[in-house]
Amino acid sequence: MPTITRKRRSPPLVGRFYDTLFSDPLLGEFWGEAFANCGYWDDGVTDGHSAGNRLVDESLRTVPPEHIARVLDVACGHGGTTARLLEHFPNAEVFATGIDAGQLTQAAQNAPAAHFEVASPLSLPFEARSFDLVACYEAAFHFDTRADFLAECARVLRAGGWLVMSDLLMLRTTGYMPAANYLAGPEAYADVLRDAGFSDVTVVDITTPGWRGFRRALTRFLAGKPPSALSMRDQLMASVVWSYVIRFNVLVAARR
Ligand SMILES: C[S@@+](CC[C@H](N)C(=O)[O-])C[C@H]1O[C@@H](n2cnc3c(N)ncnc32)[C@H](O)[C@@H]1O
Repeated sequence: MPTITRKRRSPPLVGRFYDTLFSDPLLGEFWGEAFANCGYWDDGVTDGHSAGNRLVDESLRTVPPEHIARVLDVACGHGGTTARLLEHFPNAEVFATGIDAGQLTQAAQNAPAAHFEVASPLSLPFEARSFDLVACYEAAFHFDTRADFLAECARVLRAGGWLVMSDLLMLRTTGYMPAANYLAGPEAYADVLRDAGFSDVTVVDITTPGWRGFRRALTRFLAGKPPSALSMRDQLMASVVWSYVIRFNVLVAARR
C-alpha cells in the first residue's frame, strides 16, 4: 500500500498553474491521467501517454538495470514516470516525491508499488548515498534553484549512481523559472552538472522530438475537440507565449 506523508504547499504562481493543468479534463485525456510533460515523439508514438513512456525509456538508455536497486523520481506529478520506472526496474524499491499532496494521491493510483512522500526537492528526506538512480522529468527548471537541487541529488546518490532528467531551458524573464536557473544552452547545462560533482555528463538537445513534437501533437488533439472546449484566445495565447519562452528541451544523463 503506498504511503503519502507530510504536507507542503506549492509556490503560488507555479502552484496555481499545475492545479489548473492537473485538473483539466482535456489534458488528462491527452496524457492518460498519468503524465504532464512534453514526452518524446519519435516514430510510432501517437499519443501523450506513449510519449511520456518513451521519454523515460530514452532517458535510461545508458543505465544498466542490474545495478539499480533503489530509485527516486523527484517531482513525479501524476506518477506516469514513476510507473514506467517500476516497469524498467521491477526488482527495485522505487520512491517518488512531489510538492503537492493532491498530485501524489493520483500518482499512488498510477504506481501503487512505489513509496510516495511530499517533500521539497531541495531538502530530500533521504539519507546520503542511498540511491542508485535519481530521475527528475521536466521540473528542475522551476526549482529555486536548479543548482541547489543538483547538489541535493549529488548528496543522495551513491558513488557511481546515475542522474537522469529532462528539463526546459527558458528565457530569463519568465515567472515560471527563477532567473538564477537561466542557462544559454546544453553546453552551459553540462558545465553546471560538472560543477555539482557529476561526471560522464551528456546533455542532449531533444527540442524537436520533445517540445516541438508535443506542440504538434497537442494542437492536433485539440483541433479534434468541439470548438467550445477551449477559447480561441486561450489557444493562441498559449501557443504564442510558450513558443517564445521555451528555448530548449534537453535530456540529461550523468554519474555521481
Ligand atoms: C511539468 S510537471 C512534470 C511532472 C512529472 N515529472 C512528469 O513528467 O509527468 C512539473 C512538476 O513539478 C512540480 N513543481 C513545480 N515547481 C516545483 C517546486 N518549486 N518544487 C517542487 N516541485 C515543483 C509541479 O507540481 C509538477 O508536478
